[in-house]
Amino acid sequence: MSASTAATRAWSGEAWHARVDRRKGSAHGRAVRLWAGLSVASRTLGRVQELHDAPLAPLTTFRLGGPATRLVTATTDAEVIAAVREADDSGTPLLLIGGGSNLVIGDKGFAGTALLIATKGFALDGTRLELAAGEVWTDAVARTVEAGLAGVECLAGIPGSAGATPIQNVGAYGQEVSTTITEVVAYDRVTRETVTIPNAECAFSYRHSRFKADPERFVVLRVRFELEDAGGLSGPLRYAETARALGVEPGDRVPVEKARETVLKLRSGKGMVLDPEDHDTWSAGSFFTNPILTEEEFAAFHARVRERLGEGVEPPAYPAGQGHTKTSAAWLIDKAGFTKGYGSGPARISGKHTLALTNRGGATTEDLLALAREVVAGVREAFGITLVNEPVTVGVSL
Ligand code: EPU
Repeated sequence: MSASTAATRAWSGEAWHARVDRRKGSAHGRAVRLWAGLSVASRTLGRVQELHDAPLAPLTTFRLGGPATRLVTATTDAEVIAAVREADDSGTPLLLIGGGSNLVIGDKGFAGTALLIATKGFALDGTRLELAAGEVWTDAVARTVEAGLAGVECLAGIPGSAGATPIQNVGAYGQEVSTTITEVVAYDRVTRETVTIPNAECAFSYRHSRFKADPERFVVLRVRFELEDAGGLSGPLRYAETARALGVEPGDRVPVEKARETVLKLRSGKGMVLDPEDHDTWSAGSFFTNPILTEEEFAAFHARVRERLGEGVEPPAYPAGQGHTKTSAAWLIDKAGFTKGYGSGPARISGKHTLALTNRGGATTEDLLALAREVVAGVREAFGITLVNEPVTVGVSL
């Protein structure tokens, strides 16, 4: 994927700092200090904030990466579009940043304009929901659950902004946004118009979409969802672990708030809910996608597993449609010898989940990439499977 114009966004930097502030009770001060420390030259055009030589690391959940030549913060759709047009007209590389929870920025930083999408907008009309791209996803989920609606409750605690969710078809605990999104409003950088793209034209699949496939084209502005009014109940629980934790059968429904709470508890136990005090969460969540194998590939993999781990060992296997099987990247990493907490440097595998690579503080992007490459090589050697990174890389590759 082209690094320079990666259309990724997740937890907005603004949201990240607001959250830090809430937890530490330091209110606005910390964010203001951060911004004040950012630039050698800054100016404000209307409400658009513009900084030069701006560190990007504080805008990512990894806290990694060098500075951007220029950082623009847009708080309205019109500001987003104006900043994108300006970059496109002048041929300046553009990096979209939402929450930075799925972003690995190289130590050299980004030579171009980084555009922080900080738009706000939560509109619920019956079961119809419209979110501005910059809305904090997990807060929006909480509000839909408060309204007693089902559809996104199992996606609670996912770091990132609403605009990021269609890009990699965010999913967890049996739900994916592709099942509730009705349409995506985006700025099309080719036609230079704002377009409304219906779900059927988003090409959603596992952690993928047309937005991810063509990252230079669309800038997501708004995402529209159709939720379900199930009388205060959740959607059917499709993830065995969630059903088990709730003491019900897969397919059952529970009060929607109960489902949200359970998912948050499960995620926290895996270090998948951001906590500035906990380095296990200085990550991009899952660093690799779960491999999807053809029947032939799975048979070869199965043989490797038995050869290496013994006859009785069965690898995780989930049906993934049309003769395909999904296995678990976390399991592969674990069984290849990279157990929880692996590593001796400032970048290590999370102590709570082998699929998360983490910054223990003081790491560089190169440290992280060295660990990621070691894991990929180790898993390939052990099982003949090449893991693919989930976060978008900027100016670097694995
Ligand atoms: N496992 C291990 N070691 C570990 C953790 C897990 O061996 O340290 C094995 C176990 O066999 C476990 C299996 O991996 O049963 C699956 O683990 P888990 O249920 O945690 O799910 P995952 O496949 O590792 C995926 C998503 C997560 C999402 C969870 C829950 C991907 C790449 N990741 O993880 O999404 O929260 O399922 O639905 O699909 C993310 O994308 O950033 C993310 C956190």
